[in-house]
Amino acid sequence: MTDKYYITTPIYYVNDKPHIGHAYTSVATDFIARFMRLKGHDVRFQTGTDEHGLKIQKAAESKGKEPLELCDENSRIFRDLTTTLDLSNDDFIRTTEQRHIDGASFLWKRLHERNQIYLGEYTGWYSINDETFYNEKDLVKQSDGSFRTVTGGPVDWITEKSYFFKLSEWSDKLLDLYKKNPDFISPRSKRNEVIKFVESGLNDLSVSRTSFNWGIKTPTDNDHIMYVWLDALTCYANGVSYLNDSKNELSDYWNNVVHIVGKDILRHHAVYWPTFLMAAELDLPKKIFAHGWWTNEGNKISKSLGNVIDPIEIIDKYGLDQFRYFLLREVPFGNDGDFSKIALINRINSDLVNDLGNLCQRSLTMIEKKLDSIIPNITNNGNDEIMLQESTEMILNKSFELIEDFKIHDYIKLVWAHIGKVNKYFNDYKPWELEKENKEMFLNVLAATTEQIKNIAYFINPIMPNKSRELLKIIGIDYVDLTFDEMMRVNVFGNKLSNVSHLFSRVQE
Ligand code: MSP
Repeated sequence: MTDKYYITTPIYYVNDKPHIGHAYTSVATDFIARFMRLKGHDVRFQTGTDEHGLKIQKAAESKGKEPLELCDENSRIFRDLTTTLDLSNDDFIRTTEQRHIDGASFLWKRLHERNQIYLGEYTGWYSINDETFYNEKDLVKQSDGSFRTVTGGPVDWITEKSYFFKLSEWSDKLLDLYKKNPDFISPRSKRNEVIKFVESGLNDLSVSRTSFNWGIKTPTDNDHIMYVWLDALTCYANGVSYLNDSKNELSDYWNNVVHIVGKDILRHHAVYWPTFLMAAELDLPKKIFAHGWWTNEGNKISKSLGNVIDPIEIIDKYGLDQFRYFLLREVPFGNDGDFSKIALINRINSDLVNDLGNLCQRSLTMIEKKLDSIIPNITNNGNDEIMLQESTEMILNKSFELIEDFKIHDYIKLVWAHIGKVNKYFNDYKPWELEKENKEMFLNVLAATTEQIKNIAYFINPIMPNKSRELLKIIGIDYVDLTFDEMMRVNVFGNKLSNVSHLFSRVQE
């Protein structure tokens, strides 16, 4: 693996405001970006907004606005959300930007020059909601004879002049790609679904539209605009100037690209996108990971059910880091999950307040009160202190493999198992009794506990960056970007504690 690591979220449709699904993809991607930086990689993290297509044009019409006006307003809301979620993204790309339009046109020209595109007429089903063409066999027939997508969305029957991409000619090459690169698509279950889909035979793909005009004009025929997915997918390469003849220093990131997407858009990323790139004789991403979907208190989330979860409301009520922790810990990344207030409250009260918060509070207030806030030095590295150090090293050794495999939730479990060990160590030694009986051991226990609190503060950094900084500050460390290895060597002994306070507040149901 090269030192450079480029990770992306999908770019979000701007027809409406953000919901929990957007927040989830973004927070999980941010976790991986932050983690890889801590591992010493040169990370680039991109997110952004998807602004063309019929869905956006219709949303603008229904509000009596020009499409670009709506895009400007809503893209701003998504951009603000990156700050609200404390994302560490390096770029925010919009598909209405010139750099994106140029890149999308470049890809079109290359496909055209290589004879991968031909003019025809599309007749068939189209979902405006998913901006996707459907075969009838992939739709669900309703009792009234109409058809809907598997997620219940409406489809329209359309007939229009269109350019087609010769997708059907690429099945073997795609299957070969999946075979030679078993990690290209994960999780495995999703990879198998994609393979089945390709094995069942691919149709040529309609890649231009003529019945509306909110899109990028194809550079070879001005009567057509590009199909919004062909346009949108190029954003990943455009953010690092890969789709043009004069690349710049950012283009090297294209050597190691990971796309994080929701399961609903895996086909577009794992079938269409690599095929466009192969057909244009360009380099492919390294990995595509599909995460699951959230339901709300057991129900599918949908606008018509009126149960869309607004991430801002949750953050205002429960706190950003608490929300981030819940999203990442509650459900194994890749699985579907259910959002419930009780589950969120339980996680906050048990994992954050009881496990982590109390450990810090109990040990640090003791230092504050009994030692004038000065963290003592370790004088005796006995078996128990060595055991804690080994537990830390085990996390350092195992974590890279886990995160390369997108097992965020297992990483968090490992860190919390460590917190459990430190809590046990503290409780077993009962420093509150040791103070009078054995002063040396009293100091040693507080020192070893604080040393582990420092390690924990670093371990939680990609999950809860604010709480990580807050905790480090309490133990006298000003946060600067360090790698895990450097962090482990940061000295905490002799530091003065500042403002020991509860990291998390208990939440009432
Ligand atoms: N614009 C396309 C992506 C183009 S990428 C070149 C798109 N946008 S989206 O705004 O509809 O969705 C973005 C992400 O939100 C997807 O990864 C999708 O899976 C995710 N989610 C939408 N609803 C979700 C849940 N209920 N739960 C989890 N994630 C879900 O698709």
